[in-house]
Amino acid sequence: MAFNRTKFRIDYCTPQDLEKVQEIEDLSFRHPFSPSLFLELLSKFPMGFRLAFSERRVVGYYILTESEKKEEEGSVLSIASIAVHPDFRRRGIGSALLRDIFSNARRNFPSAKQLELQVAVENLPARSLYSKFGFEEKGIIVDYYGPREDAILMQRSL
Ligand SMILES: CC(C)(COP(=O)(O)OP(=O)(O)OC[C@H]1O[C@@H](n2cnc3c(N)ncnc32)[C@H](O)[C@@H]1OP(=O)(O)O)[C@@H](O)C(=O)NCCC(=O)NCCS
Repeated sequence: MAFNRTKFRIDYCTPQDLEKVQEIEDLSFRHPFSPSLFLELLSKFPMGFRLAFSERRVVGYYILTESEKKEEEGSVLSIASIAVHPDFRRRGIGSALLRDIFSNARRNFPSAKQLELQVAVENLPARSLYSKFGFEEKGIIVDYYGPREDAILMQRSL
């Protein structure tokens, strides 16, 4: 159960915020995105890149991208990344970011019908979060992150 809930707001990312995003990314992942990839994602998907702020501090973020993949019913959105600063976890921010993803998808990507993501097999906190929000595990992608670092593909409809 979440404890010590923090007041925060969610807003769009600007290039000035990327340094703080990178700090959270580096603290959160074994294979972090590079600054140049963040810049590219922000320029391609400015409406999909959102941040959680506590006071004025960036404490979490997500990036929603439109994948090339087209299903019969519509296009597919991917959660390219989502993370919360380690000092701010278990306070409901990850859940709030996911809820924001659903409303953002309806607002800015109305033709999208599916949401998907890849999560490391051993990342039990994230798998639990996604399951709570209705994502289903659709299969394993072997060596997705590197040798013997498999991912699970998860999907849910929008
Ligand atoms: C996954 C992550 C975004 C969750 O953010 P958060 O702000 O801590 O999430 P919340 O407080 O909203 O927790 C929501 C649910 O997630 C799950 N969860 C979160 N942390 C967990 C943990 N350490 N262990 C088990 N379940 C956990 C629980 O189901 C939790 O619900 P509950 O509080 O009712 O038990 C955060 O742990 C994180 O940034 N991890 C590193 C980056 C990462 O792995 N991103 C996902 C990549 S696919």
